[in-house]
Amino acid sequence: MINNWPETDESKKMLMEAVCAFAKSEIAPKAAEIDRNHRFPSEIVKQLGEMGLMGMMVPEEFGGAGMDAVSYAMALEEVSAACASTGVIMSVNNSLVCYPLLAYGNDKQKQIFLAPVARGEKLGCFALSEPGHGSDPGGLKCTVTKVPGGYKLNGSKNFITNGKEADYAIVFATLDRSLGSKGISAFIVDTKAQGFQVAKLEDKLGITGSSTAALFFDNVFVPEDCLLGKEGQGFRIALSTLDGGRIGIAAQALGIAKCALGASVKFANEREQFGAPIAKLQAIQWFIADMSTRLQGARLLTWNAAKKKDQGLRYTKDAAMAKLSASEAAMWIATKAIQVHGGYGFTKDYMVERNFRDAKITEIYEGTSEIQRIVIADSELNNRE
Ligand code: CAA
Repeated sequence: MINNWPETDESKKMLMEAVCAFAKSEIAPKAAEIDRNHRFPSEIVKQLGEMGLMGMMVPEEFGGAGMDAVSYAMALEEVSAACASTGVIMSVNNSLVCYPLLAYGNDKQKQIFLAPVARGEKLGCFALSEPGHGSDPGGLKCTVTKVPGGYKLNGSKNFITNGKEADYAIVFATLDRSLGSKGISAFIVDTKAQGFQVAKLEDKLGITGSSTAALFFDNVFVPEDCLLGKEGQGFRIALSTLDGGRIGIAAQALGIAKCALGASVKFANEREQFGAPIAKLQAIQWFIADMSTRLQGARLLTWNAAKKKDQGLRYTKDAAMAKLSASEAAMWIATKAIQVHGGYGFTKDYMVERNFRDAKITEIYEGTSEIQRIVIADSELNNRE
């Protein structure tokens, strides 16, 4: 697996070896239990923080590890291969919380909010989606009104990953609905503020170790120095943040796919039918070949998007391609993995059953496959490189 990594840089290689070893020895053995008990893996999240994995791309001066996006994608793949629930918790904190605080926060906000989140001492969530605004957040209904010293926030959000455990939420709300997406602003909201409620926790098909919450804001006071960026800049902040988020979810999908492929190879070599391991059957070999090819193709698209981000180039289309191809590859590979396992793959005794359930969400959150196609087509048709 390590041979697949393109990096020759010694420090990155060392980090990856440490992540790989940690994922194998500390995360993977707990993944089935986390899934079965719908348990938030707080002890693992704490360890990820200590290893610098909760704020990987944040400079060291703000509590992060100062790594690049390619390293982030590689580390997140390894963590997600061990446990996809842990993968999304890490992805949201890094991509959807650390990134906007780093890119749009002022120095004070970086010291107060970013540093503890990047160190993994505090956890963040990203509150954009609403019951009536999932794929189309430009028309969101959460409102803020100006009051002395800040704003009052009202409304509800749903499907918020880390929503139950988060210390801070990046909340998108409108000051003026008549302005459409240009009326939206971003705020850093303390989840312990009066009026901030976790209204519901979703009971889900997969990634059951991470919380997915509906949030309700009842006159939550947000101090004026918790405005992130400028008033009216919120939609741009949300979409540019999601560009990076899509690299994270692509990496999570790669991890799920890698786990399903690895399990299939092992099973095919061990399981005997017609007097020989099923790996000798061409039908199984073709599954394995196609699984491996789709995985590596999606991986290269993901690294390409990450590399462009590192180079400071526009990567909106590349991130959408990475997420589209990795999530659809993960779902396809997990489906074929069950086929390779036959009846055993349909039982909870084999982890491909969990891979299958975990893979589905990667085609939905942080922009459905259909939204990624819209983004890619828009870039091509309007020559946005
Ligand atoms: N970066 C920065 N700005 C961007 C941008 C980007 N990637 N894409 C568009 N913009 C800007 C545009 O330039 C435009 O600005 P101007 O008006 O100044 O020109 C503005 O944003 C509006 O652009 P559009 O007209 O293209 O916006 P739209 O309303 O038509 O939406 C969309 C486009 C691609 C469909 C977008 O709404 C979208 O990505 N939807 C999916 C939302 C999504 O991914 N939600 C996931 C929720 S988060 C989640 O899942 C979290 C979790 O917990 C895991």
